[in-house]
Amino acid sequence: MAKKQASVWTSISFWRRSAAWVTGFATILLIWLTFDTIGQIRMGTNDELVKGIKRRVPAPTVVNYKIGYKYDAKRGLEAPVIGPQKQPLFGKELSPKEASEMLHLGKLTSQAKNCMDCHTLLGNGGYYAPDLTKAWLDPMWEKTMPAITNTKTKEDAMVAFLMHPELFATHARRMPNLGITKKEAKALVVFLKHMSSIDTNGYPRGFSKTVEQYKAGGTYAK
Ligand code: HEC
Repeated sequence: MAKKQASVWTSISFWRRSAAWVTGFATILLIWLTFDTIGQIRMGTNDELVKGIKRRVPAPTVVNYKIGYKYDAKRGLEAPVIGPQKQPLFGKELSPKEASEMLHLGKLTSQAKNCMDCHTLLGNGGYYAPDLTKAWLDPMWEKTMPAITNTKTKEDAMVAFLMHPELFATHARRMPNLGITKKEAKALVVFLKHMSSIDTNGYPRGFSKTVEQYKAGGTYAK
């Protein structure tokens, strides 16, 4: 006759079975989460954008629209508001092909020049310089930078700054001149504007609070 177990906690077969069940459950959960995430982060299409179907990551042509940022009381966080007004960059609407090529060049430039060495993009990168996830929505590009850079629009001010950050410093910490060409700078503006349209569940936290402080006439604190 087999010796009776003193307790289930000392039974080897109990632990073997538990391990098999936990591993099986975790595997199924991870597979489900992976598919759920792919659905959430898949880039939308121009068609969806035109029809007003919301996607967490909108199509590149989102850069043809005005992008706002609003507190969503139901979710308890800030979320981008796309359109409905158009606000094309550099005075010209981009076709889906042009927009996706510009976005691609912008992304490659951000990698080649290693913006993440100093800045954070969508949660990745350094904390030396301001977070760039919502940089396009920083009111300084409308309010102060056009005058400082002697340009007329938000996007031209950003191009001027990206090509010559050493001339238009606004912080004690300085951004070096990275030898960015005009074409690359324009593509980076497309990249940054597109990134600001991504619904990041309110990341970075408290961004529009600083925007409101700025509107109220306070200094813009990063
Ligand atoms: C060596 C560090 C460094 C690198 C690399 C760098 N930056 Fe910066 N950047 C800074 C610092 C510091 C500031 C703040 C200085 C200022 O605004 O004058 C800044 C400011 C900015 C701003 C204005 C911030 C705002 O709130 O809107 C933008 C936009 C920007 N950088 C974009 C880029 C992009 C795009 C790249 C990559 C192509 C890049 N930076 C690479 C250090 C860096």
